[in-house]
Amino acid sequence: MSFTIQPTGPARPNRCQLFAPGSRPAIFEKAAASAADVINIDLEDSVSPADKPQARKNVIEAINTIDWGNKTLSVRINGLDTEFWYRDVVEILEEAGDRIDQIMIPKVGCAADIYAVDALVTAIEMAKGRKKPINFEVIIESAAGLAHIEEIAASSPRMVAMSLGAADYAASMGMQTTGIGGTQANYYMIEDANGDAARATHLGDPWHAVTVAIVSACRTHGLLPVDGPFGDFSDEEGFRAQARRSATLGMVGKWAIHPKQVALSNEVFTPSEAQITEAREILAAMEQAEKEGQGAAVYKGRLVDIASVRQAAVIVKQFEMIS
Ligand code: COA
Ligand code: MG
Repeated sequence: MSFTIQPTGPARPNRCQLFAPGSRPAIFEKAAASAADVINIDLEDSVSPADKPQARKNVIEAINTIDWGNKTLSVRINGLDTEFWYRDVVEILEEAGDRIDQIMIPKVGCAADIYAVDALVTAIEMAKGRKKPINFEVIIESAAGLAHIEEIAASSPRMVAMSLGAADYAASMGMQTTGIGGTQANYYMIEDANGDAARATHLGDPWHAVTVAIVSACRTHGLLPVDGPFGDFSDEEGFRAQARRSATLGMVGKWAIHPKQVALSNEVFTPSEAQITEAREILAAMEQAEKEGQGAAVYKGRLVDIASVRQAAVIVKQFEMIS
């Protein structure tokens, strides 16, 4: 470990972020009643340009009137390359009460993007005497976002989370795909040629590199790394597999773009009984080893040491936060 201690992320459940278009107020109550830890009401790409003014009004009313329980409540504003984003921020922060927790900024490309929104938010908070500071979550979904990920993560004390936006990311990178997350048929490894024998192929994960970059930037700066949308909401196994890959790489949760995906996400990002039992047993084995003056122990025939204690502690902490 470096001399600089790694900061811990915000201690809040973030297993699933359910999206609801701001232009569909009829589903807000259903989102509030769902099992998602975070609700993102959208003003960006799920709302057509003509509907933006009405969607802002819907969002303000929803923030002020719906019982959101103990969920984290977030609003996705439009990108800084549009004419819409400043009105999103101004109208919502001038007219909505303190129940809103955060603003999601899409398509961020550099720290100055966050600085611009921060300056506007800070001015409105001062002018309106808002007591509860607004947090920021951002979407990494462009080549620039990936190139500048480290400075984006460190850009403001308001930053709490970073999500991967697979579709816009793929478009910006010029990737040959139209899928939103998941596997891509042309991204595979093939076994070496061996005479006439059939050659097995194995699909690779085209989102691996950017996922690791997000987790690394988030863990370095104390933010929550989150996997974004999986577009094919009728493919439950596909969603589960994608979510399990992200969880394995250190992400804490995933978006749901349909209510069906909430339970799937919660299932994957809640440590299982077996994982918790194993983590606790590893902690107990190491405690025993330490009492005996040992820095390592044998657990079920394999080595465990101080690093295993850190790994096990992550799982126990995740579980305690949720229960
Ligand atoms: N949040 C809460 N409830 C939702 C919901 C959501 N995002 N999407 C659908 N529902 C409700 C429906 O109202 C319906 O309720 P009912 O059983 O009481 O009638 C039920 O869940 C089943 O919905 P279904 O008919 O299968 O879906 P739909 O055709 O109404 O909507 C989508 C499908 C994909 C258009 C919709 O889920 C949606 O808008 N998702 C979010 C998209 C988004 O925000 N994208 C931006 C981020 S990528
Ligand atoms: Mg996007």
